[in-house]
Amino acid sequence: MIFKSSTTAVPEVAAVPRHVAIIMDGNGRWATKRLLPRVAGHVKGVEAVRGCVESCVERGIEYLTLFAFSSENWRRPEEEVSLLMRLFVTALEREVSKMHANDIRLKVVGDLSRFDVKLRDMIANAERRTANNSRLTLTICANYGGRWDIMQATNKMVAANPGVTEFTEAQLAAHLAMAYAPEPDLFIRTGGEERISNFLLWQLAYSELYFTDTFWPDFSIESLDMAIASYQSRERRFGRTGDQLAEKKT
Ligand code: IPE
Ligand code: IPE
Ligand code: MG
Repeated sequence: MIFKSSTTAVPEVAAVPRHVAIIMDGNGRWATKRLLPRVAGHVKGVEAVRGCVESCVERGIEYLTLFAFSSENWRRPEEEVSLLMRLFVTALEREVSKMHANDIRLKVVGDLSRFDVKLRDMIANAERRTANNSRLTLTICANYGGRWDIMQATNKMVAANPGVTEFTEAQLAAHLAMAYAPEPDLFIRTGGEERISNFLLWQLAYSELYFTDTFWPDFSIESLDMAIASYQSRERRFGRTGDQLAEKKT
């Protein structure tokens, strides 16, 4: 299924965002504030993911996309990187059955070639097992970078069309790692920073942006509802004027 792109057509806007994408930031600072090692923040962060997935299911959100590890996060100390990998493996081991029972489809996107074979197999199995679930599509972005995504899509598009030198947005979009999902309606970043950090660069073109100082481990149902309330107060114009929107409503 091909979704309408926000730059080539005006999408229908629903009261509840269909697709929420989150940069889960602030795990380390959450821990440091409590005089705990950074890892404690990541462990607590996994719990927050569980709560967030449940809340999204309850609210009828169809796509939840979480930035778990960026292509730049390899720059962290080796110890922290390997701990994050272990946490990822444990979370997959523990959660996939529950996800499947709750009709959740799991996708993991990013350059997975840098992960070890065991983790890659686990991901492939989890994706296969949950492929036909339809209540919520949970995407974990792991070793993901927005620029990596645009480049890998470009390379695939060119390879699929030998000799062609001009392409459309739609042709490129069809090769993006998340071509199976509509563009995010609502983007959330926790942890106080107000930047995109190489997340979904292409797809965030017309997303509503929401930043909160709350550290990810403290992100609760109430925090999610505040973000949704903020989203609902916005006027999504997609290039049109406010008057045009008002006319459409009457
Ligand atoms: C986000 O929390 C988790 C990952 C990037 C894996 P951080 O680890 O970035 O936490 P802060 O920003 O240092 O507080
Ligand atoms: C962004 O968080 C990536 C993830 C949440 C996985 P970072 O904490 O790595 O972002 P920067 O580098 O501070 O912008
Ligand atoms: Mg951070």
